Amino acid sequence: MDAVQIIATGKALPKKLVTNDDMSKIVDTSDEWISTRTGIRQRHFCDGEKNWELACQAAKHALEKGGIEKEQIGAVIVGTATPDYIMPSMACIIQEELGLPEDIPAFDINAACSGFIYALRVAGSLLQEEARPYALVLGSEQLSTRTDMTDRSTCVLFGDGAGAVIIKRNTEKKFYGVWGTVGNRASLGCPGHVMGDPYIYMDGQTVFRFATQYMSNAVKQVLEKAELTLEDVDYVVCHQANERIIEYVRKQFKAPAEKFFKNIGKYGNTSAASIPIALTEMDEQGLLEPGKKVVIVGFGAGFTWGSMLLEF
Ligand code: UT7
Repeated sequence: MDAVQIIATGKALPKKLVTNDDMSKIVDTSDEWISTRTGIRQRHFCDGEKNWELACQAAKHALEKGGIEKEQIGAVIVGTATPDYIMPSMACIIQEELGLPEDIPAFDINAACSGFIYALRVAGSLLQEEARPYALVLGSEQLSTRTDMTDRSTCVLFGDGAGAVIIKRNTEKKFYGVWGTVGNRASLGCPGHVMGDPYIYMDGQTVFRFATQYMSNAVKQVLEKAELTLEDVDYVVCHQANERIIEYVRKQFKAPAEKFFKNIGKYGNTSAASIPIALTEMDEQGLLEPGKKVVIVGFGAGFTWGSMLLEF
């Protein structure tokens, strides 16, 4: 398979900003506990905005930045575990709202926090066949609607937001990626309104162990496939779930702090949106010039995991 090349990025955050001090007025917690255990200082929560509205905003941002005509988009895939509707999919709503072509596939992927990586890989495969040159890939989440705001062990961790990228095939480079599944319903999930249990449950320590082990291994595997070492890579972008998890992975590779991009402090864990939001911020900071190599890596409920090498 040819490599997936990102040519534009975009993001959207809800207006409402919620600090750790704000959270401490809702549950028995403190800025000190949250920031030292997770690195999170604030997050955005939707206050009337729909998830699909954020997604459309992020998608428009990416299309405008890339100067891409709508007619050139050959697929829309959204990684999300928190769609507004069971159906239609978020991707179908984006197709309608943005007036994208009608003869293209548009669908969502639920791989929880790994959703963006899964969506990117699937979109890259679709582009091998599509006549149109580009695909629109998003991670877009509204975790605040699935979080029990009386459960301090989960409600302080998550945030809402959307990230979007426009990708094309790079026929001069090969694709390097890994992904997988380790089924474990007991440790992390969200039965949802249909099952009469709307909120996320989590065994934090089991998830922590899974995340550190599988993200470290996934990065190693991608590097091995690409015959690279971490020194050959400019940045690693981990799913932003917990600063301590990212630091654990970084230390496995004895990598300098600046190689592992972090913005969890500003947004909390935005699930499938965390990596595309991070890529958008890196682009805005001028970190993603042509030629830069970036490994993205994530994990999520399922458990799911995945990693991929990107070359800009
Ligand atoms: O996309 C989903 C991904 N999820 C994750 O990545 C989560 C991975 N796990 C983690 O990040 C960590 O396990 C947490 C941040 C969730 C928890 O950190 P921890 O160091 O594993 O804490 P803990 O669960 O062992 O709890 C330690 C203490 C407990 O009190 P006791 O029993 O020692 O008295 C908790 O009740 O901290 C208490 N606690 C809190 N205290 C203040 C739990 N949540 C809070 C809170 N504020 N928000």
